[in-house]
Amino acid sequence: MSKLFFIALFATVVLAQDLPLMPWPANVSRGQGELILNPSFRISSFGGDARLHDAALRLADRLFRETGIPISREFTDVAATLAIIVEEKKTDDESYHLLVDSHQARLTSTGPLGALRGMETLLQLVHIGPSGFSIPAVDIDDQPRFAWRGLSLDVSRHFIPPDAIKRTIDGLAAVKMNVLHWHLSDDQGFRVESKKYPKLQQKGSDGQFYTQAEIREIVAYAAARGVRIVPEFDIPGHATSWFPGYPNLASGTGPYEIVRTGGVLRATMDPAKESTYRFLDGFIGEMAKLFPDPYFHIGGDEVSATGEWSHNPHISAFMKKHKLADFRALQAYFNRRVQKIVAAHHKRMMGWDEILHPDLPKNVVIQSWRGQESLADAARKGYNGILSNGYYLDLMYPASQHYAVDPLKGATAGLSSDERKRILGGEAAMWEELATEENIDVKLWPRLAAVAERFWSLESVADPASMYRRLGPVSHWLETQGLEHLQEIRVMQERLAPDAAPQVAILASILEPMKGYTRHRARKYGSLVPFNRLVDAIPPESDAAREFADETDRAVMRRKLAGWRDNARAVTPKLAANPMLAEIVEVANAIEELCSIGLEALDSHPAPERAQAMLAIIDRDSKPKAEMLIQIAPSIRKIVDPNSMPAVSK
Ligand code: ACM
Repeated sequence: MSKLFFIALFATVVLAQDLPLMPWPANVSRGQGELILNPSFRISSFGGDARLHDAALRLADRLFRETGIPISREFTDVAATLAIIVEEKKTDDESYHLLVDSHQARLTSTGPLGALRGMETLLQLVHIGPSGFSIPAVDIDDQPRFAWRGLSLDVSRHFIPPDAIKRTIDGLAAVKMNVLHWHLSDDQGFRVESKKYPKLQQKGSDGQFYTQAEIREIVAYAAARGVRIVPEFDIPGHATSWFPGYPNLASGTGPYEIVRTGGVLRATMDPAKESTYRFLDGFIGEMAKLFPDPYFHIGGDEVSATGEWSHNPHISAFMKKHKLADFRALQAYFNRRVQKIVAAHHKRMMGWDEILHPDLPKNVVIQSWRGQESLADAARKGYNGILSNGYYLDLMYPASQHYAVDPLKGATAGLSSDERKRILGGEAAMWEELATEENIDVKLWPRLAAVAERFWSLESVADPASMYRRLGPVSHWLETQGLEHLQEIRVMQERLAPDAAPQVAILASILEPMKGYTRHRARKYGSLVPFNRLVDAIPPESDAAREFADETDRAVMRRKLAGWRDNARAVTPKLAANPMLAEIVEVANAIEELCSIGLEALDSHPAPERAQAMLAIIDRDSKPKAEMLIQIAPSIRKIVDPNSMPAVSK
């Protein structure tokens, strides 16, 4: 074979890798040329169902909005620029084939779901070039690795209104996720209208709940986009919001009100009263009709060991009578009863990994949050499971950290092939103790796209550098498709700093919120605390700091450090004069100091004594300030002393 052939092949491979696709398709190759989008663009659609037709209309609208080219909503039979061909109507198959050349794009799939997934790939490929808007020639054969690719979204700690839920569903569909696990009740709020037990929302929600009409609309909206909605009502713990309306459900004497703080609360549902199960039968029966998905999540996590169960003589007597040795056995008894109710309403029960117990039937699904071991354990014992441990987006870790976690690596790696098949996939989780409707998108996106890739793409698609190269363009694409993660921080920063927003944006670009649960403990948080500070108005991950860490050109490093230093210095008087930003003066001072040290170390190799003094300052400036971290600090430490280890752990 000729040398030229290899050069051509190499060029093709490199180009395919540059495509801004996320999740990365199972097979993708780049062809010659591109399909130019012009006013003669026509869509044809064969097969499928009403859902497919509506999705094709939305695709036309999205292309029209993006390119300004009027895309006909009248589908043609012949000579279409985009031919969508669905071979069968009803199948769960999400695979698709997308072939684009300079004349036509052909999207084929066995079922409508595959076509929906392929449409998102097509839309990700649209870009502007010398010939205007076009789609590169590609041959993509794609299918998901896992059947369950979800987001668990808490709307109890802070209510997220219907429009934001719909936007989130659009985002899930855009990155080929297929489950919204809706955490609808917790200690801090009960978020669904019950007609049978109306005091649940009347006394448990502060008026912030979804009406049944809204739920139906959202469920239909999600189904149209190939996203299932799995409701979760967390019991018997995390259940305080049920009790203001129905105190008899509780194991204590009350009185009860909605919880305004966080943590694991003492209030717990009473598993020793028959009336509890009658209530749950009525409630689950009502919800089973409202939520058509075959799965029903009962929570089951974090039942307080020192809570109400340990103070109720009636519960102690019940445990004795039923030979339940401890609270774990008592919860297993409760779960078994609840599982029978769930099954009687034709649903398959799911729960967090605490529910794993030999007494439960094997069709229960285990969601692993405490560690991957529980997922492996569940699979070994014959249960289906999904992984959430490692995908907690609320903990403000970088995308790369979540991306490195795989449902089939780690503790699950040693499973047999049958056991591995029991692992259905995973879910990212977003708990809302520290997030609100105003910044929900920036807490989710774009990191959720990286998790979506983990669940959809091949296990071998695991290079963080490639992920980050694509995540930037995909993040902007997601914003153009209707998500608001970039807009949210801009608006919040402009409100915080009406007279200095551009300078505050530069300052904020190298900051990140504290990690893990450290911010939860930094002050007394709760639902009545406003989340309107700079720490609430920055992304979890600083692109600028990551890029700086990868920078090797010392001239560029110098320019960046000087820019950050000068900006911090210039903005300080405005910070000091603004009560909302006074806490940032300390941050700006530390940035100025760190950048000055970085510049000094770049300009002249510091003598050992001076280097020691610099490292001590870096340690001090690496500590959280205003609940944020200056994310360039580790890079500056490396400039001063490439071998030193930070003294401060985050
Ligand atoms: C959980 O994070 N308590 C499921």
